Amino acid sequence: MGIIFNEKESIFKLDTKNTSYIMGIEGDLGHLVHIYYGKKLKGDNNPSHMPVINFTHKIWFMDGNAMEYPADGCGDFREHCIEIRTEDGYSALEPVYVSHNIYKGKPLLPGLPATFADESCCMTLEIVMQDALAGVEAVLLYSVFEDTDVITRSVRVRNISDKNVTLTKVLSACLDIVNDNYEVITLHGAWGRERSIQRQKLGYGRCGVFSERGVSGHQNHPFIALVSENTTQKTGDVYAMNFVYSGNYEAQCERTSNDMVRMVMGINPYNFAWKLESGQEFIAPEVVMVYSAEGLGKMTRTFHDLYRNHLIRGKYKDIKRPILINNWEATYFDFDTEKLLQIAKEAKKHGIEMLVVDDGWFGNRFDDNRALGDWVVNEDKIKGGLKYLVDEVNKLGMKFGMWFEPEMICPDSDLYRAHPDWAFHIPGREGARARNQMVLDMTRKEVRDYIFDSMAKVLNSANVEYIKWDMNRALTDVASLSLPADRQGEIYHRYMLAVYELQERIVKEFPHILLENCSSGGGRYDPGMLYYSPQIWCSDNADAIDRLSIQEGTALIYPLSTMGAHVTDCPNHSVGRTTPFDTRGIVALAGTFGYELDVTKIDEKEREQISEQTKMFHKYNDLVREGDYYRLASYSLNNRYDCYMVVSKDKKEALVTYVQVKTVAAIPAPVIKLDGLLEDVKYYIDELENTMPGDVLMNMGLPVKPEHGDYKARLYHLIAE
Ligand code: DGJ
Repeated sequence: MGIIFNEKESIFKLDTKNTSYIMGIEGDLGHLVHIYYGKKLKGDNNPSHMPVINFTHKIWFMDGNAMEYPADGCGDFREHCIEIRTEDGYSALEPVYVSHNIYKGKPLLPGLPATFADESCCMTLEIVMQDALAGVEAVLLYSVFEDTDVITRSVRVRNISDKNVTLTKVLSACLDIVNDNYEVITLHGAWGRERSIQRQKLGYGRCGVFSERGVSGHQNHPFIALVSENTTQKTGDVYAMNFVYSGNYEAQCERTSNDMVRMVMGINPYNFAWKLESGQEFIAPEVVMVYSAEGLGKMTRTFHDLYRNHLIRGKYKDIKRPILINNWEATYFDFDTEKLLQIAKEAKKHGIEMLVVDDGWFGNRFDDNRALGDWVVNEDKIKGGLKYLVDEVNKLGMKFGMWFEPEMICPDSDLYRAHPDWAFHIPGREGARARNQMVLDMTRKEVRDYIFDSMAKVLNSANVEYIKWDMNRALTDVASLSLPADRQGEIYHRYMLAVYELQERIVKEFPHILLENCSSGGGRYDPGMLYYSPQIWCSDNADAIDRLSIQEGTALIYPLSTMGAHVTDCPNHSVGRTTPFDTRGIVALAGTFGYELDVTKIDEKEREQISEQTKMFHKYNDLVREGDYYRLASYSLNNRYDCYMVVSKDKKEALVTYVQVKTVAAIPAPVIKLDGLLEDVKYYIDELENTMPGDVLMNMGLPVKPEHGDYKARLYHLIAE
């Protein structure tokens, strides 16, 4: 049983295969206190210390104990989860336990992306908390994925008064634990340098990451983990949270003077004020919580399994994705039907399966200063029309895909000339442009309908089987002419709901289409987006060496099957580095795999290598997509080489990727201890033409072949005998 309520002790116990989560209802008022999260505890009646309230010193109770869902203004001075403003202007809130409900399965969160599960693998607990005076109810939702070792959390807030209440802050999860010399792991970055791993000691005070850009962003990531000192890939305690949301967020750890730690995650309260009329409800997005007693590696594999099985949907969920060639770095805006068909014809010869036409096929879009919003095929470029082009590509035996940036509008566009008020702007103020574009006010239904209809018209006009959904700027001048003054604080979240609604409409209307999200590379790579698209473009920087850290940080949480990765031309367009073609192929193999270069212009030898690489993709992709991922060495830490492996679920096959970034004189090639194999099984290793037992490979290690020179990569394929 995943969830138990011990009525005598007033304790809830949530169990997964390897973890337990315990909370209790304090007797006098019904505050919900947190008791334990960690390694699984046996039995239903776990001895627990239940703090007791002393009204003379209520503040000490509120501020000094572990709380389950702390509120503003009643004595808990740490980062709290919920804040309101009543019509009278009051803000203090003290929700207490009223009732609960335990049931099998997991509810959907209407309008929001969320993990899903059927009754066989998940149970849900809903705890109803109320503050009768303020007239606010908060229902805390906990869904327990027993086998996957995950607990997800969300909150529904309802106005149970007969007046208006404004919700000014609502986080989705809180975890209070006693400090144990914890360190904090977050992901930071920039365009072309997404998701670098940052690890720091948790000092006193608050430490965390956030976004106020309207997108989850390149700069920080909606992920945070508390880890015990010296945690490695294989050992140590890890408490992690990841937010199933793509807009403004906050992820924070606070170490208090009494040496407790509070970890919280939810929508960023920046510019957030959601008006709830009597009876109305607000649903906060989901947080995925993972505890691992076996280091970061176990945490990673837990997230991967959860997302592959319980978040990603659609036709391509569990199957190989077509190997694509995208024309962006090949041509930028300078292409026409003839050029595209030349690329497709040459690509087909080498095993590439889909042509993707990137930015520039529509309206008056001959550079990036104009035409966003005009989703009409430009027949000066696409001579003969879209159907002709797609039919010709299909005749070659290839699929066809195309790029959209649906959320945007350029001042120089027919759309803007017809509807200048559709762009976010504050009347009288010159809005901030980026790439000469503005953001559409997606909170307006007529705007969403226009986007859907114009996209659908294009998609229905030819056999389009893939969409790259791009989003190339953050939100500014956030104001909607269609909302009253007291609802302007709802726009950031309404914007996200609108994006989700639109993507849902697209995937429902065109279920055969493979959707890939993108945001100037990987600026909106989060679990929210994964609910709609099984893959996301990881970064505009496809340099094989920079990609090692980008893909390492991404794979810390997200399955390899979701990581958009392409082989591009050299010198690399982002950083100017030249790396061997086969290294670029091997690094891209850890993701969805594809090409983004002018295949008609690269030299013959590289073209032949494409044929080898596409064969390699077919040989290994099932394993890469479905297997367990182990991080063995990080170039970001050792400055010399990178190494990771994927092991099939039955442990009969594995693929080790080794990239030697820098050769160092007088240091031999490393011997790398593998992981995840069966100790007693012998594995044949193609590249070594040798058989080695699992225990030797995991304890003594795999002797990688010495390489002379930088940027060399090798694969080692292991098959159980
Ligand atoms: C940003 C994306 O990340 C690129 O791959 C490309 O699609 C450009 N936008 C096109 O404008």
